[in-house]
Amino acid sequence: MELFIDTANIEEIREIAQWGVITGVTTNPKIFSKENVDLRSRVEEILEVVPGPLSLEVTTNDPDEMIVEAQKYAAWSKHIVVKVPMSPAGLQAVTVLRQKNIKTNVTAIMTVNQAMLAGLAGATYASIFAARINDIGYDANQVIRQSSAVFKQSSFKTKIIVGSIRLMTQINEAALAGTDIVTVPYKFFSQLANHPQTEKTIQEFLEAWEGVKTPV
Ligand code: E4P
Repeated sequence: MELFIDTANIEEIREIAQWGVITGVTTNPKIFSKENVDLRSRVEEILEVVPGPLSLEVTTNDPDEMIVEAQKYAAWSKHIVVKVPMSPAGLQAVTVLRQKNIKTNVTAIMTVNQAMLAGLAGATYASIFAARINDIGYDANQVIRQSSAVFKQSSFKTKIIVGSIRLMTQINEAALAGTDIVTVPYKFFSQLANHPQTEKTIQEFLEAWEGVKTPV
């Protein structure tokens, strides 16, 4: 499995990219609205740091407008993946964009049936929204597990991204449920890496070495 970072904040991306654990970036209009920057300049900055898939979402529900917007974004870089909403219009846009070799990420998927449609339409990625599924009383892990099984059975090339992460447990549970990728907000990365028992152990080793004081 892979980890992406779910942010458009360049400082956050720079910090975590140094760890060598992220292979892509996802954004959405809400995430970008917090940045107050020129979209294209920020896209270029991000791609200098993470030259991997960068999901950029269309800002319309009209399929023809989606296609126009998608073509504009895709022309900026081969790494751009155009995020389109899960809807009849979004699927229509995915079908046209696939024929133009433009990569797509069908977003805000809540059910296995929606994931299946994204796979059938030939989306590059299908984004299942874990916390938002749990919010409405359903089991996100079941949606991920079943979608992953259907994709394997049907030999879909579409990769599953699990987004909408609000709890640490949603990260490892999504991985175990068979997702290809989890896209993680910045605030969880330090929690993923740090553990008080690890720190205590390392401290114990350093203190023992301090007692010996042999120069390295
Ligand atoms: C993923 O691609 C989305 O950008 C994101 O994870 C949405 O998460 P939210 O439910 O916190 O808005």
